[in-house]
Amino acid sequence: MHLFALSCLASLLSCAAVAAEASHASTTIEKRAVPSGFVTTNGAQFDLDGEPFYFVGANSFWLPLLLTQDDVDATFQTMQSAGVQVVRTWAFNAINATELPYALESGLTYYQVWNNSDWTLNEGSQGLERLDYVVETAGKYGIRLILTFTNNWFGYGGAELYIYHILGNTAITHDEFYTNPTIIASYQRYAQTIVERYKDSPNVFAWELMNEARCAGDTLPSGPDCVPGSETLTTWYQLQSDYVRSLDPYHMITTGGEAGEDFEASLALPNIDFGTYHMYPQTWYPELDYPGSNFSVEEWGLGWIEAHANTAAYVGKPLLIEEFGVTGLENKTEIYPVWVGYALASGHAIEPWQFGELNLTEDGGNRVIKYTDQIYQGASPNDGFTFYINQTAVWDVFTAAAVVQGYRSGP
Ligand SMILES: *[C@@H]1O[C@H](CO)[C@@H](O)[C@H](O)[C@H]1NC(C)=O
Ligand SMILES: *[C@@H]1O[C@H](CO)[C@@H](O)[C@H](O)[C@H]1NC(C)=O
Ligand SMILES: *[C@@H]1O[C@H](CO)[C@@H](O)[C@H](O)[C@H]1NC(C)=O
Ligand SMILES: *[C@@H]1O[C@H](CO)[C@@H](O)[C@H](O)[C@H]1NC(C)=O
Ligand SMILES: *[C@@H]1O[C@H](CO)[C@@H](O)[C@H](O)[C@H]1NC(C)=O
Ligand SMILES: *[C@@H]1O[C@H](CO)[C@@H](O)[C@H](O)[C@H]1NC(C)=O
Repeated sequence: MHLFALSCLASLLSCAAVAAEASHASTTIEKRAVPSGFVTTNGAQFDLDGEPFYFVGANSFWLPLLLTQDDVDATFQTMQSAGVQVVRTWAFNAINATELPYALESGLTYYQVWNNSDWTLNEGSQGLERLDYVVETAGKYGIRLILTFTNNWFGYGGAELYIYHILGNTAITHDEFYTNPTIIASYQRYAQTIVERYKDSPNVFAWELMNEARCAGDTLPSGPDCVPGSETLTTWYQLQSDYVRSLDPYHMITTGGEAGEDFEASLALPNIDFGTYHMYPQTWYPELDYPGSNFSVEEWGLGWIEAHANTAAYVGKPLLIEEFGVTGLENKTEIYPVWVGYALASGHAIEPWQFGELNLTEDGGNRVIKYTDQIYQGASPNDGFTFYINQTAVWDVFTAAAVVQGYRSGP
């Protein structure tokens, strides 16, 4: 494993050649006949119009939160010049009725307003029209979007808004999100809204059921029925992927899962088209890289990549490492080439967390978007994982990887 990764470090290209051979050996599953321009799967590969499609992606939850269309265009332009072909963004933004006046005053994007036990949709110029512009503009730059329907976490209005508003004082556990029929119906009504709105667009890469579904959330614990080894999340993935497939026969569907679920069982579901996982060993295991620890963040990451690559190869579906990161410029510079090289060699699509854009114009570049996310002096939100074009050593890892993925894609 380590020797292989080191040789990848030396040359991203030689890894790609090894992996390209390996991927031809994978079994093919029956392919849906999708309209031209839609990305689909062919065995363990992504496929665009009959050719393999390998990519480097970007995470940018804040794109639909931007106030000006010029800033949206500028961001896609930077992404395109970095070779980014797929962008993952939130197709959810929910607030409650108390927050509405603040949202209106600050120009905050919101799609759902929760009041009492239900939400209403905002299709206006501060609502889904902003997401419309992002979906439309992506296509101008040859970029496709992964659109996520909700969040496990509070950020931008996730599962716990559904739980608190629908169950009120009777809310006890986070995993009621996955089993309560009223909550499921409410989630599906929102998912349907998004799917129906964009289902004809080739600019959609895939639908994503949830960001980082887990048994526990930010404020509510997990219950006795949602524990490691239980099938609560797998069952929910199955129900929701079947539901979304009933609305849209063509676009791919993925879970958005990160960890703590049955990865193999979820990936094997008939309407889950490819696998996702996330990777933050530095924050998950703070004891790594400390005196006395015999395992490093870098090594742990390689093991995690390998384990997922093996499972995806066994199931025979494509794989995307859809979020990963370490904090600190030196850590990034040291670790990313190794992880990225190894992931490319394993036939992965890669999507680091998170893409940074400089020189945004809005409000002098100092707008607080929500929570602690801020556009500061024109730089998109920096959570410590963000990398910007001025950080050349890190930026180049991903642009080089995009070149490699381009060589492996047809024609
Ligand atoms: C609405 O959200 C705010 C936080 O932004 C919170 O303080 C308040 O309790 C919420 N109201 C309801 C009814 O959930
Ligand atoms: C929320 O519901 C209450 C009671 O039904 C209503 O008076 C209020 O106008 C609603 N608020 C919003 C923002 O819709
Ligand atoms: C690290 O140490 C633990 C506990 O001593 C041991 O179980 C584990 O196998 C070690 N890992 C490696 C990679 O040496
Ligand atoms: C770099 O990573 C180490 C742990 O591996 C961590 O302790 C340190 O804080 C990181 N540096 C920065 C600037 O985040
Ligand atoms: C951002 O603006 C500054 C000042 O005008 C300029 O020096 C810099 O090159 C710009 N950066 C990018 C990435 O466009
Ligand atoms: C690059 O831009 C970011 C965001 O403005 C800034 O924090 C950082 O100091 C800049 N330079 C380098 C070398 O990271």
